[in-house]
Amino acid sequence: MIIKKAIFKQSASSIFGCPKPTLPEFAFIGRSNVGKSSLINMLCDNNKLAKTSATPGKTQLINHFIINDNWYLVDLPGYGFAKTSKSIREKIETIIYDYCKKRETMVCLFVLIDSRLPLQQIDKDFMLWCGKNHIPFSIIYTKADKNSKGELAKNIKNVEKELLKLWEELPNSFVTSSENKNGKEDLLDFINFQKDEAQKRVITPDEEE
Ligand code: GTP
Ligand code: MG
Repeated sequence: MIIKKAIFKQSASSIFGCPKPTLPEFAFIGRSNVGKSSLINMLCDNNKLAKTSATPGKTQLINHFIINDNWYLVDLPGYGFAKTSKSIREKIETIIYDYCKKRETMVCLFVLIDSRLPLQQIDKDFMLWCGKNHIPFSIIYTKADKNSKGELAKNIKNVEKELLKLWEELPNSFVTSSENKNGKEDLLDFINFQKDEAQKRVITPDEEE
């Protein structure tokens, strides 16, 4: 799939402020600073679309970007940003949990994981929470350019080993770099496929009878 058009639609501080749930959407979640906003920019070939920052905690709202006029990419605030007040952290957690549980048009949730690190407790906790709430997710390993090929393979293998202690099967996963655009085509093809499948599942009034 090619992204021909990507436009910022709106920011919301809760699910109630999101666009009307009429189009399929794909959301990016993960620790603060893992590279969610950068990945959206990489997919859309526009470094000014989502705001990025070397300082964690940049994205604090739900941001919708309308793609090719018919689906959304959603940039969510990061979890686990320690250097903020408890009340802001709790507010952000509520935004994230509410969105993930209640957004009816969310087709896929992508949990982003830093490809340089062993599986972090906070990522594990979030994925377990998804499991408990029956929210399927895929994994995106970010910042692949910051590893040697050998390190990358070793790190991912270690994370997978940890995941297999929790689940019988591994979720779909993608290895990406917003720096050198690795993984772009695979991810967009997956999104395109999931979007088509989701649209097929929409039951028209005629079919309901
Ligand atoms: P919050 O909004 O704070 O939750 O962070 P985020 O997950 O949106 O991270 P963001 O995209 O703002 O990126 C954080 C930092 O990591 C920035 O300095 C980016 O330039 C850098 N970064 C993100 N992705 C990559 C990548 O693939 N490679 C490299 N080398 N740097 C990256
Ligand atoms: Mg961000």
